[in-house]
Amino acid sequence: RAPADIYRPLRANSKGVEFGERAGLDALLTEIEIARKLRPTALPSQPSHKERRACRSPIDGKEIGSVIDSDGKSIEAAMAAAQHSFDSWAATSVVARAWVLDRTADLIEARRASFIALLQEEAGKTLDDALGEVREAADLCRYYAAQARELCTETALPGPTGEASSLRRCGRGVFVCVSPWNFPLAIFIGQVAAALAAGNSAIAKPAEQTPLVAFEAVSLLHEAGVPQDVLQFAPGGGDVGAALVEHPCCAGVVFTGSLEVAKSINRALAQKPGAIVPLIAETGGVNAMIVDSTALPETVADDVLTSAFRSAGQRCSALRVLCLQEEIAGGCTELIAGAAAQLRIGDPRDLGVHLGPVIDAEAKERLEAYLAGCAARGRIIYAGEAPAAGCFVAPHIVRLDRLEDLKEEVFGPVLHVVRWRAEAFDALVEAIARRGSGLTMGLETRIERRRHALGAMAPAGNIYVNRNMIGAAVGGQPFGGFGLSGTGPKAGGPDYLRRFMREITVTVNT
Ligand code: SER
Repeated sequence: RAPADIYRPLRANSKGVEFGERAGLDALLTEIEIARKLRPTALPSQPSHKERRACRSPIDGKEIGSVIDSDGKSIEAAMAAAQHSFDSWAATSVVARAWVLDRTADLIEARRASFIALLQEEAGKTLDDALGEVREAADLCRYYAAQARELCTETALPGPTGEASSLRRCGRGVFVCVSPWNFPLAIFIGQVAAALAAGNSAIAKPAEQTPLVAFEAVSLLHEAGVPQDVLQFAPGGGDVGAALVEHPCCAGVVFTGSLEVAKSINRALAQKPGAIVPLIAETGGVNAMIVDSTALPETVADDVLTSAFRSAGQRCSALRVLCLQEEIAGGCTELIAGAAAQLRIGDPRDLGVHLGPVIDAEAKERLEAYLAGCAARGRIIYAGEAPAAGCFVAPHIVRLDRLEDLKEEVFGPVLHVVRWRAEAFDALVEAIARRGSGLTMGLETRIERRRHALGAMAPAGNIYVNRNMIGAAVGGQPFGGFGLSGTGPKAGGPDYLRRFMREITVTVNT
């Protein structure tokens, strides 16, 4: 088959979200168009002395809104309100807290066109990425609501002593939620929903690049019934994040972003006087996929393109290094490059486009500098074409001599390819595991022993066999890594909420 037939961007993703949900596509597009036109652009002023900052779309650099970032005074006010309201929120029944989150999910779904319009303009998402994200945001709210109902019900503990013991779980205090720009709705609301469901009050700091969609999410949570003081919005950059984390009232931090920032938060928390403050961190990964000679080439090409280039490679789960068995490497690379050449890069509001922009000019510059270094070493084996204006970076394929040549996560549409020999399968998996930076991992094979071996060696938090490596489904595929990829527990998994809670055992001598 010709490569063009292999890449099927209209295929349902792993969450079963059909692109455009076929039948309702026209109606949805109209709703998105209206939402785009009606959206207010200036976020309400915070009590802050900072200058209003313009928010620009990565698609064309146009101003799409503005925000006033938090300053010392507004952070103090937000912390005081969140701290003051904690007791009453913690005393609110778990049934009521969960109800508010279920209602939030309903509202997200009802307003999906507005969220999609914003996700496209502010974060450069294609329609299918934006739809998937809206779906994930609603799923996370419902999942954590259900988990909270289960975990916050006091349980009597059987014991050998004849005494009556029970275990109760409740919130810790003010949780600081620091989220990334690549999932400015789903990860943002997932962190906040978990903190609130567990009985904490929350301060949400969105990524500097994506405050508009985050503000919409906060407004919606308030509308659903979260009291104003219980959920505070603190837009801004790294200085705002650092001030929140270092604040004496911060009782816990949930962070998704770079390893470097996760470590700096960890250091700051360790140095705080007083109680030990927990950190839940999810960082990135130098994620690998191993392909052996028994894999089906068309399936491999499809899965590789989705894993490496969907969302312009800006997912922490994205494939970064493809390990091809020597015997099939040439043909497979050719097939993948041929299929990559069919991808369209441009304005993600155009339905025929597969890749939107990267998040901002800084990201584009960083990726271009990296690719220039690869070109100078003669390593680029495929380079696509992207529009010159806007923050677009075309898909690239880069050849590596050894796995170790890739030193760090390259956060964009850059796929690295390395070859391996059949007898070295276990050694290759061990080398991947040794890096300690596996958030996701893929394997394409029809050899059953290899699937089992990979599961047993567990080099990454999320392992995918004979499918793409992105789009973990809430509840069904709990998501998160370990080592350099995060602290755990997994988002959308059964243990996530526990880390946001205090546990109290009461024993009565009857
Ligand atoms: N959870 C996302 C995925 O699985 C990445 O953040 O792709």
